[in-house]
Amino acid sequence: MILTEKETILLKDTQTQEQLCVQKYTKAAAKAKDPQLKALFEEISEDEQEHVKTVTKILNGVIPVVPSNTDKTKSKESFTAYYDDNADATAKQEDTYLCNDCIDIEKYVAGVYNNNIFSCQDRQVCENLNHIQKEEQQHGASILNYMSVNGML
Ligand SMILES: [Fe+2]
Ligand SMILES: [Fe+2]
Repeated sequence: MILTEKETILLKDTQTQEQLCVQKYTKAAAKAKDPQLKALFEEISEDEQEHVKTVTKILNGVIPVVPSNTDKTKSKESFTAYYDDNADATAKQEDTYLCNDCIDIEKYVAGVYNNNIFSCQDRQVCENLNHIQKEEQQHGASILNYMSVNGML
């Protein structure tokens, strides 16, 4: 498969963005006070590493098989309230900041994929990018769900 010049430029930007996501989630996991949130950030960081791999493969002319990982997302959907009325207000504030910061990057990245999908010509490449975009939306939804359970919204 040969990528067009435009596709190559877009995918290189996407690769950089995904690398930033890995760093962002690794750091967020290290800083998170609630162990549940730490685990969520670690899981998302693994997804972001997969995204880097997928985009890198496409840039190298290899089209990966789109994974079916419907079970994988289940663990990111159930949270219990860690921050109740007696919770440490500073810790809650810090974890809220981490969540908002990560949601911001997901919003940005979702926009990047939206742009990519409209510019890509190869159907199989598109399917891969669509799959990643769906995962980015799930990341945002999981964090929002966590925030909702913990009275952070
Ligand atoms: Fe990603
Ligand atoms: Fe993401």
